Amino acid sequence: MANPGEDVTEPEGGPVRHIPVLLAEVLDALDPAEGKLILDGTFGAGGYSSAILDAGAQVIGLDRDPTVIASGRVLVERYAGRLTLISSQFSDLAEHAPKDGLDGVVLDIGVSSMQIDEAERGFSFQRNGPLDMRMSRAGVSAADVVNRAKVGDLTRIFGFLGEEKHSGRIARAIEKRRATAPFTTTRELANLIETVSPRKAKDKIHPATRVFQALRIFVNDELGELAQALFAAERALKPGGRLVVVTFHSLEDRIVKQFFADRSGKVSGSRHLPMVEAKPATFETVGKSVVHATDAEAEINPRARSAKLRAGLRTHSAARTVDMSIFDLPDLASLATMGA
Ligand SMILES: C[S@@+](CC[C@H](N)C(=O)[O-])C[C@H]1O[C@@H](n2cnc3c(N)ncnc32)[C@H](O)[C@@H]1O
Repeated sequence: MANPGEDVTEPEGGPVRHIPVLLAEVLDALDPAEGKLILDGTFGAGGYSSAILDAGAQVIGLDRDPTVIASGRVLVERYAGRLTLISSQFSDLAEHAPKDGLDGVVLDIGVSSMQIDEAERGFSFQRNGPLDMRMSRAGVSAADVVNRAKVGDLTRIFGFLGEEKHSGRIARAIEKRRATAPFTTTRELANLIETVSPRKAKDKIHPATRVFQALRIFVNDELGELAQALFAAERALKPGGRLVVVTFHSLEDRIVKQFFADRSGKVSGSRHLPMVEAKPATFETVGKSVVHATDAEAEINPRARSAKLRAGLRTHSAARTVDMSIFDLPDLASLATMGA
């Protein structure tokens, strides 16, 4: 994984507002202008949306975190009539698009600095708080998963979503400890992981980093949400509309890369498979296939170091059917209703 757990690093000097990542590159790829309607699926602190509005476009902003929507009201007033904010997950973005379609969709995947900084949201092992991690504040929490999931399932979650080498050992230690006292706080879990993880001097990250990342991705079904949002954007964009996605680790980037490869007809064929008729491309690549932050941006904002931007231009071809098999994702979704 490119930069494991980067989202849970506390910035030096205490809490900060979220600094938008790759902002200039996002605007370049999205091309906002007067008369265009852009959907920002991850409104957050409104960094992207404000810049898009300043370029003259209209914005529909979505966020699954109700706190974000409440604090965004200030911007709704400032941009009188040009910004609409909706509390929604971005996999449902097509439901919020007008019939004649959108000119752009932008997604900035992950959690914001504000969410990490609030101890009571439970995203950070560096801040003691309830073991929660639910962006939408509803559904199954990280504590539910840690206290109820089978050892085999915890091992799969930590191994696949966190690329944690000691996933089995940590899962077994969790099972033993929860039999006497269920986990309620981030500190309890971080302390247990620290106790059972062998540590080497060259390790740069805290031993709990990967498990916390895995739990956050699992609790919020982040990979499923991303995959479904890409299909939804394909349905909701007008011909000529742009889809711009910024990701922060390799599992997410792989999904975006596979989607654009499949939809632009660039999936390399195998000589072992029967010939299949090429389907019409629904997207063409915009600019470079992947864009990284400049050294200057990475210096100012460490979050930007692992960011990758990919963008596509919607063609005239009809949206294809939803096919999750293009992503090679393991079936972790069946666990997602646990404890609900
Ligand atoms: C990295 S922040 C976005 C920051 C924003 N681009 C800015 O410039 O301020 C990600 C935001 O997306 C939201 N989010 C994450 N997954 C989501 C989903 N599946 N649906 C809707 N919002 C989501 C989070 O609640 C968070 O507020």
